[in-house]
Amino acid sequence: MTGGSKEPAEIRAQQLFEARYGGVPDGISSAPGRVNLIGDHTDYAGGLVLPAALRVQTAVAYRVTDKGRVQATSESFPDDSGFEPGELGVAGWGGYLAGVAWALLESGVPLSGLELAICSDVPTGAGLSSSAALEVAMARVWREVDGLALDDVALAKLCKRAENDYVGVPSGIMDQFASSVPEPGEVLLLDCFDLGYEVLAVPAGWSFVVVDSGASRSLAGSAYAVRVAECAQIADVLGLTSLRELQTENLRNLTGDLLKRARHILTENQRVEAAAASLQLKDRPRFGRLMNESHRSLRDEYEVSSPALDTLVKASLSFEGCYGARLTGAGFGGCTVQLLETGAEEAFAEYLQKHLPQAKIVAAV
Ligand code: GLA
Repeated sequence: MTGGSKEPAEIRAQQLFEARYGGVPDGISSAPGRVNLIGDHTDYAGGLVLPAALRVQTAVAYRVTDKGRVQATSESFPDDSGFEPGELGVAGWGGYLAGVAWALLESGVPLSGLELAICSDVPTGAGLSSSAALEVAMARVWREVDGLALDDVALAKLCKRAENDYVGVPSGIMDQFASSVPEPGEVLLLDCFDLGYEVLAVPAGWSFVVVDSGASRSLAGSAYAVRVAECAQIADVLGLTSLRELQTENLRNLTGDLLKRARHILTENQRVEAAAASLQLKDRPRFGRLMNESHRSLRDEYEVSSPALDTLVKASLSFEGCYGARLTGAGFGGCTVQLLETGAEEAFAEYLQKHLPQAKIVAAV
């Protein structure tokens, strides 16, 4: 849905490669963005999440070179990036690629030098994990060309390491896992405590649409790190090794912001379990109600919503045929996800155009 009438990312990456380097690439790897259906700000607290892999992808066309360096060009950024695998401190968008190289080298594998051309249909800065899609697509390139023995789960963990320890964002594992493990269009029920997971299908007749509020966000510069620190503080105050052990009784020993944050974590994990069950039972009204409760909790208890997101959620719920709506991802701007009946997407898009023209449907599952 993103990219309008443009060719898909894989085709554009091939064309960009040929224009930039001449000749043809050895291959093209890609990885999808994700939309989280329910379970936000629970992954780094050892909780449950229910994301779906999007059909829009980031594609990396690659060719092995004997120069040992990585040279990368991207359709989305004016400047190219170049680095030696293992080089520290690579800034800007190339940092995601250099971070993946660094994490792979740390795990003891030698890496080939590469020429790369990157194109993406995953909207950036919207909370749809464009960075995880880039990391996973990049790790898939090295897995392929250097024959690395990494399964999809190991690859997700490695990409998380790149994001946390190289790029410097203290995120959980949801995004990299959702980009690496399920097929596009599939839903992932992931237990971030032990990485146990199940892949689920979206029931026939259900349609999740992703709407960009038009207010972009920056995860690295946001209050995200403050929330991660608050969770560590809660565990500390309560003497828990993981917030997964949090029980209703523990709430008595908390006050102020920490009490609110803990209430969100506790109830959001319960909602994810209930939502996964509703998906399997094909109970759409219940799934929608859980989405609405999740949004309220993220807004009032976890305080990661924004006026634009709240307006969009409220407006969506006045559309007849919208079962539920919530912010998705880190919040502080970016996107919402809405549950509709299949076939209602066009009328919903027209409704948004009329009431909130800055809001746009950017993806669907
Ligand atoms: C971002 C992070 C994820 C997760 C979400 C909120 O997308 O990268 O790890 O914490 O925010 O659920």
